[in-house]
Amino acid sequence: MSAEETLILVKPDGVARGLTGEILRRIEAKGYTIADLRMVHADRELLAAHYAEHEGKPFYEPLIEFMGSGPVVAVRAQGERVIEGFRSLAGATDPTAAAPGTIRGDLGRDWGLKVQQNLVHGSDSTLSAERELGLWFA
Ligand code: RTP
Ligand code: MG
Repeated sequence: MSAEETLILVKPDGVARGLTGEILRRIEAKGYTIADLRMVHADRELLAAHYAEHEGKPFYEPLIEFMGSGPVVAVRAQGERVIEGFRSLAGATDPTAAAPGTIRGDLGRDWGLKVQQNLVHGSDSTLSAERELGLWFA
């Protein structure tokens, strides 16, 4: 059986702040393999498909706008339990509450904006990973 895979995105705030290298470093330092990598300026169609589960929520529109505001770096990462492991590396959704030692906890903060800018996305299940990798690495 091939190793588990997940989709990681360095969100536009991470790219704009020059944190792509630091985030990729943490993924590799943990021992995961970067199997594929691409920089994408996502259009609305891709973002709507990616965030379909959040349609109708109050943060949906600002989220789509934020995610389309600049390029993101999409990563196909591999390793045993990488889905769970990267969610743990990323930390809690709210960067103010995220534990120090995590990507969001160490590098993120609240900027007082309409949507939480929290540097990274990671798939949350094997089903999401398969679906999301199909969208970003079609
Ligand atoms: P992600 O999907 O990006 O890996 O993050 P997550 O699972 O930790 O969080 P999720 O609940 O899936 O939300 C997706 C993204 O929407 C933004 N968000 N803002 N109340 C808010 O302002 C709010 N809630 C969610 C964040 O960018 C979050 O990562
Ligand atoms: Mg999520």
